[in-house]
Amino acid sequence: MLASTTTRVKRLTSFSELRAWRSSLKDGDSVGFVPTMGALHAGHSSLFKKARRENEQLLASIFVNPLQFNEGKDFERYPKTLEEDCQILEAQGVNAVYLPDREDLYPEGYDTTVTAGRVGDVFEGYSRPGHFEGMLSVVLKLFLRTKPHRAYFGEKDAQQLFLVKKMTKDLDLPLTIVPCETVRCEDGLALSTRNSFLGTEERERSLCIIHALRAADALYASGVRVPAELESVMRQCLQEEAGFFVEYAAVVDDKDFQSAQENHLGSWRAILAVRVGATRLIDNLLLSESA
Ligand code: PAJ
Repeated sequence: MLASTTTRVKRLTSFSELRAWRSSLKDGDSVGFVPTMGALHAGHSSLFKKARRENEQLLASIFVNPLQFNEGKDFERYPKTLEEDCQILEAQGVNAVYLPDREDLYPEGYDTTVTAGRVGDVFEGYSRPGHFEGMLSVVLKLFLRTKPHRAYFGEKDAQQLFLVKKMTKDLDLPLTIVPCETVRCEDGLALSTRNSFLGTEERERSLCIIHALRAADALYASGVRVPAELESVMRQCLQEEAGFFVEYAAVVDDKDFQSAQENHLGSWRAILAVRVGATRLIDNLLLSESA
């Protein structure tokens, strides 16, 4: 019965089909855009929901961008679930989905990338060289092709969101970037496509990620403004679990994504990346003034 209450999402498999769809829209209609790599879950759906409420037309994209993967294996094993994804898109009232292939976005001879600037080289950028350059390059290209009024990004990938906002501002791109809160499982683990790679025991142990972030939050709420202390409490929580490799556990100033400075007050965000077995997970939490 679901099929009768939802409209089919229009599949646009090339730039020319996207262009034709885009120019068929009424002039006054606002377009909301949600770029994704597919394997959609409730985290993505929260972006579609917000975008659905705020725009006349809602466009998604699914493209597993090879430029932003620095490990070939990670790219190859990225799940591809197009039919299930389209059901989610339809249930969320998405009007059209752009499904470019590699040749459509990066034709033979493609050779230009966007440099992410200094925030592109720290934390995720340090752990995954070239990742943000590849991510910004595809996002810019998608923005130029889809010409949205608003584009929606999750806080789950806080550094990505920061860099997309920065690029949009620095390059005077004519759209608004809308941040969307992280969606979590009931037990606190942030939803992520990579969670499906976790074994049962690894999934259990991954709860120390949210414990670490909440421990930093509690310490911050108690008045501690010493980044090293907040980082140390996070590391303690993470190191209690065997089989965890901590890539970074840090506190940044949300305004510039630089390491927070003791007693330089602002809005602080705890961020971390860990490897659980073969799976890499990231998460973050904006620290709140009061408990
Ligand atoms: P992907 O990992 O598919 O994520 C698409 C969007 O969903 C991103 O903005 C991400 O932050 C958001 N998202 C993922 N999990 C979330 C969660 N638990 N809660 C809220 N939002 C969540 O991020 C990418 O794709 C790519 O880098 C992309 C921007 C598409 C460029 O290739």
